[in-house]
Amino acid sequence: MSDMTSPSFSPRLLIGLTALALSSACAPAALTDPGTIGADGGGGGGGADGGGESINPFDGDAQAILDGKQLYDDNGCKNCHGDDGRSATFKDLLVSATDSTEQQIFDAMKDGVPGTAMVSYSSTLSDDDIWKITSWVTSLADDGGGGGVTNPFEGDATEATAGKVVYDANGCTNCHGADGKSTSFKDLSVSATAASNEVLFDAIAVGVPGTAMVAYGSQIDEDDTWRIVTWIRTIE
Ligand code: HEC
Ligand code: HEC
Repeated sequence: MSDMTSPSFSPRLLIGLTALALSSACAPAALTDPGTIGADGGGGGGGADGGGESINPFDGDAQAILDGKQLYDDNGCKNCHGDDGRSATFKDLLVSATDSTEQQIFDAMKDGVPGTAMVSYSSTLSDDDIWKITSWVTSLADDGGGGGVTNPFEGDATEATAGKVVYDANGCTNCHGADGKSTSFKDLSVSATAASNEVLFDAIAVGVPGTAMVAYGSQIDEDDTWRIVTWIRTIE
C-alpha cells in the first residue's frame, strides 16, 4: 500500500503548488495587494470556454470560487449571511445568485447597501477579492437549487476506491478513522447522507474555520478532492 501511495502524493502536491503559483500569477491583486485593482493579467485562466457574457474576470475559474468562500469566511460575512450563505434573517445569497446580476452582487459589497446592515467593504477587500466572492455567491445557484455543485465522479466505484487511497495518504484516518466512522471527530458516514457536495468539497478544500479541520486545498487537487467525496458517499 505505502509504495502505491507515496509516489502519487508528491507529484500531486507539486501540481497543487503549481496551480496555486499560476493562479496567483494570473491574479496579482488577490489577497495581499488591494492596490493593483483591475490588473486582469490574462483573464484568470479558466474563462476562455465560459458560456455566457460574464463580466467577472474570474468567470469559470474554480479556484476563485474556493478563494471567494475563504474570503467570505475570513471577513465575517457569515455572521449575517450564514456559513453557507443561506441566512433566514439577513439576505439569503442563493436568492442573490438567482435574482441579482453579477454587477449588483459586486456593487453591494463594494458600495454597501445604504440604509441597511450591509456596509461597504471597499476599504478591506480589493476588486479582485470582491469578484472572487461574487464567483462563490453565483456558484450557489450552479445546479438549479439542488444544493450546490455537481461531483464529476458521482457514483463511480473506481474513483471512490482512488479517493480512499488519497484519504489514507493524507492522514485523514488520524481523525476520521480508517473507515471514516470516527466516534471522537466527525463521523463521515453521517456526512455521506446529510451533507451536500459543496459542503463536503469545501470542508476538504478550505477547511472548517475554528475546528480541527484544516484546509487541504494546497495539497489535494480538485479531482482528488472529488474522489474523496465520491468515497465518502459510499460509507454506510
Ligand atoms: C451586519 C450584517 C451583514 C454583514 C456582516 C454582511 N452583510 Fe451582506 N447584506 C446584509 C443585508 C441586511 C443585506 C440586504 C441589503 C438590502 O436590503 O438590499 C445584504 C446584502 C448583501 C448582498 C446583496 C446582493 C444582492 O443584490 O442580491 C451581497 C452579495 C452581500 N450582502 C454579501 C456580503 C459579503 C460578501 C459580506 C462580507 C464581506 C457581507 N455581505 C457582510 C447584511 C450583512
Ligand atoms: C486533526 C483532525 C482532522 C483531520 C486530520 C481531518 N479532519 Fe476532517 N474534520 C475534522 C473535524 C473536527 C471536522 C468537523 C468540523 C465541524 O465541526 O464542522 C471535520 C470535518 C470534515 C468534513 C465535513 C463533514 C460534514 O459533514 O460537514 C469532511 C468532508 C472531512 N472532514 C474530510 C476530511 C478529509 C478528506 C481529511 C484528509 C484530507 C480530513 N478530513 C482530515 C477533523 C479532521
